[in-house]
Amino acid sequence: MEMAGVEEYTKICAESDLSEGQVSTFEINGRPVAVAKFEGVIYAVDDVCTHDGGDLGEGSVVKGQIQCPRHGARFDLKTGEVTRMPAVFAIDTYEVKIVDGEVFIGVPA
Ligand code: FES
Repeated sequence: MEMAGVEEYTKICAESDLSEGQVSTFEINGRPVAVAKFEGVIYAVDDVCTHDGGDLGEGSVVKGQIQCPRHGARFDLKTGEVTRMPAVFAIDTYEVKIVDGEVFIGVPA
């Protein structure tokens, strides 16, 4: 579904399906995307940790960051920047839109 700009937005679930502090993984355009809710805001980032491929969708939300379950690296949910070692490189972030209570994620096709 095309909504704006060059990105394609994909509906993943209802906003009410995502709980505060929960992380879920969705495959969008063949790409695994971790979706998390922090302080009522939904964020979408790469599911794969840049340190050694940890599954961020299995991780946890800590003060606006997503923490890798493997070695504990953290990334800012808004920017994807590394906030704690051992990761060095940022992860990609994706746009999130809420339309009529449904969550759409913008992932390049
Ligand atoms: S794979 Fe994520 S911290 Fe090592």
